[in-house]
Amino acid sequence: MKDLFDIKGRKALITGATRGLGWGMAEGLMEYGVETVIWGTSEKVEAVAQEFRDRGFCCHGITADLGNRESLKAAFVRSIERLDGKIDILVNCAGIQRRCPSEEFPMEDWDAVLEINLTAPFELCQLAGREMLKAGYGKIINIASMQSFFGGFTIPAYASAKGGVALLTKALCNEWAGRGINVNAIAPGYMATEMNTALLERIRLFG
Ligand SMILES: NC(=O)c1ccc[n+]([C@@H]2O[C@H](COP(=O)([O-])OP(=O)(O)OC[C@H]3O[C@@H](n4cnc5c(N)ncnc54)[C@H](O)[C@@H]3O)[C@@H](O)[C@H]2O)c1
Repeated sequence: MKDLFDIKGRKALITGATRGLGWGMAEGLMEYGVETVIWGTSEKVEAVAQEFRDRGFCCHGITADLGNRESLKAAFVRSIERLDGKIDILVNCAGIQRRCPSEEFPMEDWDAVLEINLTAPFELCQLAGREMLKAGYGKIINIASMQSFFGGFTIPAYASAKGGVALLTKALCNEWAGRGINVNAIAPGYMATEMNTALLERIRLFG
């Protein structure tokens, strides 16, 4: 029983891990002995990976832009190479937020949010899923939101994408659970991260 949740030696890929919730989840995995590839949008990811290595963790940094499908695919290939051809755990954590009343919401923001928050996680589930299905083992954790269920205000693209993440998780579950792959989602409430800077500032100003 004590080994029921043992993940030592497993190999993970986590997006959006240079800060915020992704950083914390990456740290958690590494504290339990998981070799982890962290993704970030800039060279900063290497500095973050180095900080983790300095703490004795097995961490690799990869630069990737989830808004660019070629960049995503290339980064996935590099990640698998770093993990010696194996991936046990995928955490789709990267995400962006755009706030604007729905009647004015810019279509370019809609496209960006849907691409990064929904399409990219699907493509990563697919790429990682193919490897996991071959091995008959895998854990995928998608980061949804309580806005997957509530819809929020002035965040139509984010709510739609996160609603999509919740149902994508169920869809993949239906297909892959019987083949050894667990697909789950976490739907956090409000967390004080960079994503909520504007919201926190409004609360500070207006109470
Ligand atoms: N903070 C909250 O209250 C909250 C609540 C529910 C869900 N979430 C979700 O949790 C996840 C993490 O959010 P956070 O609060 O840590 O936000 P954050 O802004 O601190 O971190 C977002 C991460 O996504 C990465 N990212 C952004 N655009 C990218 C791109 N084009 N390509 C690759 N990576 C990109 C950033 O580099 C960063 O590492 C997101 O999916 C978010 O929607 C957050």
